[in-house]
Amino acid sequence: MAVQRAERAAHEPGESPERVLKEARRRRTFAVISHPDAGKSTLTEALALHAHVIAEAGATHGKAGRRTTVSDWLHMEQERGISISSAALQFTYRDTVFTLVDTPGHADFSEDTYRVLAAVDCAVMLIDAAKGLESQTLKLFDVCRRRGLPVITVINKWDRPGKDALELMDEVQERTGRLPVPLTWPVGLSGDFRGTVDPRGGSYTRYRRVAAGASAAEAEVFRADEAAALEGPAWTEAVDTAALVAESNGDLDVEAFLAARSTPVLFAAAALNFGVATLLDVLVELAPPAGPRRDGDGRLRPVEAPFSGFVFKLQAGMDRAHRDHVAFLRVCSGVFHRGMVLTHAATGKPFATKYAHHVFGRDRETVETAYPGDVVGLVNASALRAGDSVYVGLPVVFPPIPHFSPEHFQVARAVDAGRAKQFRRGIAQLEHEGVIQVLRSDARGDQAPVLAAVGPMQFEVVADRMEREFGAQVRLETLPYTLARRVLGPDPEVLNRIPGVEVLRRTGGEAVAAFTDRWKLGRVATHAPDLVLEPIGGAVD
Ligand code: G4P
Repeated sequence: MAVQRAERAAHEPGESPERVLKEARRRRTFAVISHPDAGKSTLTEALALHAHVIAEAGATHGKAGRRTTVSDWLHMEQERGISISSAALQFTYRDTVFTLVDTPGHADFSEDTYRVLAAVDCAVMLIDAAKGLESQTLKLFDVCRRRGLPVITVINKWDRPGKDALELMDEVQERTGRLPVPLTWPVGLSGDFRGTVDPRGGSYTRYRRVAAGASAAEAEVFRADEAAALEGPAWTEAVDTAALVAESNGDLDVEAFLAARSTPVLFAAAALNFGVATLLDVLVELAPPAGPRRDGDGRLRPVEAPFSGFVFKLQAGMDRAHRDHVAFLRVCSGVFHRGMVLTHAATGKPFATKYAHHVFGRDRETVETAYPGDVVGLVNASALRAGDSVYVGLPVVFPPIPHFSPEHFQVARAVDAGRAKQFRRGIAQLEHEGVIQVLRSDARGDQAPVLAAVGPMQFEVVADRMEREFGAQVRLETLPYTLARRVLGPDPEVLNRIPGVEVLRRTGGEAVAAFTDRWKLGRVATHAPDLVLEPIGGAVD
């Protein structure tokens, strides 16, 4: 009965395969990623502003001094001025439907960022012109490489004194393995950002500051001869260096960009809105539209197939009054209609979608229809987990989203033994949402699970939410481990005999060994030669 209803919904009048294909081609689903402080929040605001989503910049993100902004719904975020939770902002520009999926600003939540990168088709990497490539920049480039994700590189804060543009190009090429191909080149050194030259057309886009960066920057376009008269030596210098780079790196090869072998580069000052409109144009012209997705068996599911999608993120407690769970779903194929009944691939059970929202910060808008590339927030979706697939009709299971390799380990215990039930329920819920990895062993027992995190701030989120949402205060004790491996083989527990190694299990039974240091890894070969250790999530740690 439920499936019949869902089948009907998938084939409503006006939703022909051609229509789905057309809508998918208009979609650009992307994330802005960067090392903290490179300007991700500022650029998000600027992009939204250009698309006229918000009236005034400064209304989207939660940073110190901007605390009443819309994305900081968690108590901890408000207190610390950081952004933990992700959501998606949808806007239309040049008849293109953009979905900008928000990522957490702090490196401690990179597992969340990793999940978001599974749900987008392109990433915009921001680099601070003064700092160049930083630790998190490199990690993120590596994740994009492993996902085969195309990256558009934006050198930000060119209005501030920083590195030399050529030096930055060398850094990108040497440290990311992608060939940088500038689509704009700055006129004026860093700290004296006058505008940009188009290395192919030779035209000059001159920027002018407007009040407090709160509206689109003024940009005027001049011919090369006019630019030379206006800017003198700064123009000549820009044209000469742009030609030098063009000679060595060539024109942008779109195929190489889509195959993650090259990266188009733009110069910008997000705080002044310089270069922001150009970025939107480049996204329209170069970023891949929503396309067919591979399932777990490597088969492509075309966008015009019946509805399918996967959950890339769960969020609870966004609306304190209702204690709701929102599952963020990336639509992969077909059309989503609110009210349709989906099949949850993991359990085979039907899932009703009465409450479906676009969620960005505290703003929610009911979604009636969504197409491939769109992100839908399903409310009261407590049965769904990150990585779960849902579909209508033709079954599909998309590849699971791998865990990030944990580097921090703490044992959690309930402060009040009388709250053991709340404690267990809370830990299970936070594990389910993917807030933290939970590992257990018979020796430690259920009342003392080991929490494994990518960054220590994840423990603070756990402690905070356990107390507030589940009424179970926790005591956390640090363990000396710094890395973990999945263990494959007949009897992983033999590793417990090696000092500095402990074998734990995930819910579901997968064995994970935690090591105090990487030297211990080498000892496994001697002590248990028939066991295989695998990096978690293919990550290089
Ligand atoms: P993040 O989300 O990547 O962590 O960075 P965010 O946008 O919060 O920017 C970090 C700081 O860099 C902010 O300054 C922001 O104003 C500044 N910034 C961003 N883009 C530019 C730019 O193009 N040029 C210049 N000069 N500064 C830029 P802050 O002092 O930390 O905060 P605020 O008080 O300015 O908001």
